[in-house]
Amino acid sequence: MPIDPRTSLPPYQVGPDQFETDAARMQQALTRYDEGKGLIRGDPRQRPRWLHPLPAEPAPAFRLLQSSPEQLQRLHAFLAAAPLEVEIGSGRGEFILDWAARHPQHHFLAFEVRWKLLQRIARKAEKAGLANLWVSDDDARYDLPRLLAPDSIAACHILFPDPWWKPKHQPRRLFTPPFVAALARLLRPGGLLRVATDVPGYGAHIAQLLHDHPHLHPADPAAIALYAAALPSSRQAFCDEIGRPYTFYYFTKSSLLETP
Ligand SMILES: C[S@@+](CC[C@H](N)C(=O)[O-])C[C@H]1O[C@@H](n2cnc3c(N)ncnc32)[C@H](O)[C@@H]1O
Repeated sequence: MPIDPRTSLPPYQVGPDQFETDAARMQQALTRYDEGKGLIRGDPRQRPRWLHPLPAEPAPAFRLLQSSPEQLQRLHAFLAAAPLEVEIGSGRGEFILDWAARHPQHHFLAFEVRWKLLQRIARKAEKAGLANLWVSDDDARYDLPRLLAPDSIAACHILFPDPWWKPKHQPRRLFTPPFVAALARLLRPGGLLRVATDVPGYGAHIAQLLHDHPHLHPADPAAIALYAAALPSSRQAFCDEIGRPYTFYYFTKSSLLETP
């Protein structure tokens, strides 16, 4: 494989780079979206409790269908106590751990379906003494509408969502019309949605879905500037290292007065 002289690293391929959708399969999956079609790991009611244990309660980690009522009560109290920021797909947690440490006045919820990564974030949060971060390895698409009231998220971060290239995996993609509708409901008026991707076709698709939603609008520069100091996620740092372009999309939910 030829070496890129700029980086001395082999050129990096994330996949076909031709972002395609098996429209018929996706349409079919979306008709069953509310039943949980496309959820990572399938039906959360079937998930074995013994596999991949979470940190013991009352550590700030949860699964919606497996945590005790007391734990969920603690979680609800936490969610209601401060402006809430959510990250979906935290990966190794670089962004959220740093951002939460720098914003003790906000509360944070991080979703990462990969158990090992989730454990890593939980360990690091504990080590750093972060009292404003809860974590879950549930599929965020299942939990968010069941856990949060409408108009409750101040900011939602989705950094480098998986493109799920294979047709049979495409229903796992985060950005679909029902997911965007759910996010728009959950964002509070003036709340910010911050998305990044290095897959241009997925970026175009995401931008289209967000533009098409009647209550979402491109954010103004002041809202965007708040995040200029955010620590790059691993994927962002990797793209920077190899010179791979990526795009951020910032949208806000219209204020109540603007909402028809
Ligand atoms: C490409 S990685 C990006 C990780 C990180 N945000 C970054 O920028 O380095 C996407 C991550 O999202 C997680 N993920 C995908 N779908 C998810 C979902 N529905 N709920 C929670 N996490 C999800 C994956 O396990 C993976 O770690």
